[in-house]
Amino acid sequence: MKAAVLKAFGDAESFEIQTVPKPVPKANQVLVQVCATSVNPVDYQTRRGDYKNLVHLPAIIGVDISGVIEVIGEAVTEFKVGDEVYYSPQIFGESGSYAQYHVADAGIVAIKPANLLHVEAACFPLAGGTAWDCLVTRGNLQVGETVLIHAGAGGVGSIAIQLAKVMGAYVFATCSSKNRDLVKELGADWVIDYRNQDYAAVVCQETGGLGVDLVLDTIGGETIQRSPEIIRPFGRLVSIVDIATPLSLLEAWGKNLTIHFVFTPQYRTKLDALTKLIERAQLRPVIDSIISWDQVIQAHQRLEQGGTRGKIVLEFIKD
Ligand SMILES: NC(=O)c1ccc[n+]([C@@H]2O[C@H](COP(=O)([O-])OP(=O)(O)OC[C@H]3O[C@@H](n4cnc5c(N)ncnc54)[C@H](OP(=O)(O)O)[C@@H]3O)[C@@H](O)[C@H]2O)c1
Repeated sequence: MKAAVLKAFGDAESFEIQTVPKPVPKANQVLVQVCATSVNPVDYQTRRGDYKNLVHLPAIIGVDISGVIEVIGEAVTEFKVGDEVYYSPQIFGESGSYAQYHVADAGIVAIKPANLLHVEAACFPLAGGTAWDCLVTRGNLQVGETVLIHAGAGGVGSIAIQLAKVMGAYVFATCSSKNRDLVKELGADWVIDYRNQDYAAVVCQETGGLGVDLVLDTIGGETIQRSPEIIRPFGRLVSIVDIATPLSLLEAWGKNLTIHFVFTPQYRTKLDALTKLIERAQLRPVIDSIISWDQVIQAHQRLEQGGTRGKIVLEFIKD
């Protein structure tokens, strides 16, 4: 099979399309022919060497798959050959999605939403699964609560806004002015142009000085530190960004906040739950662009540059 192999940590040119052995599934695994994947920030963070100690080179990376089961291991009972599936491969320690075939433990694989093409389904596993963990599992968002979602036009934010609306929340979302209409159309009740407005001042004013119940931080750093200003006492902060520098969280302590750091785990039930919402047309993919998988260098350059709306999808055309 062909794969985009990461030969060294560095810039986007560090990938090379190579022929490598097709993987063979173990008893509890499935072999999937990859139809589409999408590019996530963790891909370029991994590529440039942020997680050097967790990745052995040469490596095949990539954390979203929509594809078709070609072989099932002898212990797998819940799938059959030909099933259309979607999932997020384990982020570190296993081979990723930038290849024509992938093997995965059956426990992390889910049946693809019937109403989506592969290029659409590939937008969901990592970003949608993360939004689910942040708002449902960890953030415990309740009907009628208020939530601030940072980077509402990003991969995670664009799904999180829709999910928060399904859950009955009032949604503040940040984005730049060019994405205002998109973010509004996804369901945000109050859109904040983070480049020209102080989001904390807006949230304070619009909540009568009380603050929101929950903040979903997709930015990190100063965003974590400023969050206690805009969260009500006993409220919650969920952050998905790793922290490289020490932060003072004194104000969070003073307000009795609960802070969750999420590194999203892979499991099927959240994908099945997302599938229900997708099939009811309550969640839709936001696609920035679709390009051929062998253009992975360009995809990395574009995502890393910033300014994307939703997901960059890499499509595999069968030889
Ligand atoms: N812990 C986990 O399990 C996990 C899982 C998924 C993602 N993540 C992390 O979460 C972060 C977001 O992921 P993603 O996939 O959503 O990224 P993404 O799709 O690359 O996000 C791009 C968006 O971020 C917006 N943005 C950039 N700076 C902003 C700011 N200061 N305020 C508001 N919006 C801003 C951009 O808007 P403009 O173009 O308007 O500037 C763009 O719409 C990444 O750091 C990623 O590594 C973590």
